[in-house]
Amino acid sequence: MSAEEAASLYKRLESEDFRVLLGVELGMMSHEFVPINAIVKYSNLIEEEVDFRLRRLHVLNLLKRRSKPFLGFALNYLGYDCLAINALVKSGYLEALGKPLGIGKESDVYDALGIGGMEVAVKFMRLGRISFRSTRRTRAYVANRGHMSWLYQSRLAAEREFQALKELHKAGVAVPRPIAQNRHVIVMEIIRGAELADYYEIPKPKAVLREILRNLRKAYLKAHIVHSDLSEFNVIIKPDGHIFIIDWPQYLKKDHLGADEYLKKDIGNILRFFRRKFKVKLELKDALDFVMGFSKTLKI
Ligand SMILES: Nc1ncnc2c1ncn2[C@@H]1O[C@H](COP(=O)(O)OP(=O)(O)OP(=O)(O)O)[C@@H](O)[C@H]1O
Ligand SMILES: [Mg+2]
Repeated sequence: MSAEEAASLYKRLESEDFRVLLGVELGMMSHEFVPINAIVKYSNLIEEEVDFRLRRLHVLNLLKRRSKPFLGFALNYLGYDCLAINALVKSGYLEALGKPLGIGKESDVYDALGIGGMEVAVKFMRLGRISFRSTRRTRAYVANRGHMSWLYQSRLAAEREFQALKELHKAGVAVPRPIAQNRHVIVMEIIRGAELADYYEIPKPKAVLREILRNLRKAYLKAHIVHSDLSEFNVIIKPDGHIFIIDWPQYLKKDHLGADEYLKKDIGNILRFFRRKFKVKLELKDALDFVMGFSKTLKI
């Protein structure tokens, strides 16, 4: 179920296929599997056409099919990808999908051509792929809302991350510039570099740690945002030595219950990594005081 597959299938789809996919999407607001009569209604096509399209979309592996207790269809990730890609292409944010930049546990990220042939990164959320971790990660923001499909949770995650990126970018935090979001997909600035975790040596580890903490401070004090899943895997170092912080769908607002505990954990993860790998020592309390604005300087 790769987005590359969706990008190539998408080109073979006709407008009637999209209308049926959209009909199934609408129907899924009230059905887990959408019966044919509802798809006919929502797609505004005649039943014969809908039957033909459903069979075709099922063979292309863009829909799930269930025959009991009644015949019904549901989108899968590939079908959902096609709807998002189509919307982003139509609105001019996406021209062509390229190569994978990172296949994460809960998302696939690709490079792509965006507006005017500019290179961008496109993140396809894939919640539920590894259910153990997804449950933990999404709990904070989808608690107490009953059953929700993974597609819906992925859309929610994309909306949340896009919102966080907008606020963080405005506050001057080093995050990818957000460009567009549709359904479970985000288009953002592409960051050339590698995850901090991939480095065995960096020229100035203290300066890098300081830059990370300065950005967390800005996120906290200006955007009122705590990352909540920070580690060496979500910090990218560019070839020029500067850093970017990525992967924000599980962020918390700083007044959220427990946000300070997450901030402590985030900073603890980073300090532990720098201590272990680069022998840079900094007390958690000093780092926390700096990030939360209780002190103006860092003693490293
Ligand atoms: N804007 C970007 N520019 C370049 N590469 C990116 C960008 N965003 C993400 N990536 C790459 O894709 C990988 C996965 O992205 P991200 O961490 O946001 O998703 P994830 O699914 O949460 O990953 P994981 O679950 O493994 O932490 C990143 O580690 C990074 O290598
Ligand atoms: Mg990540």
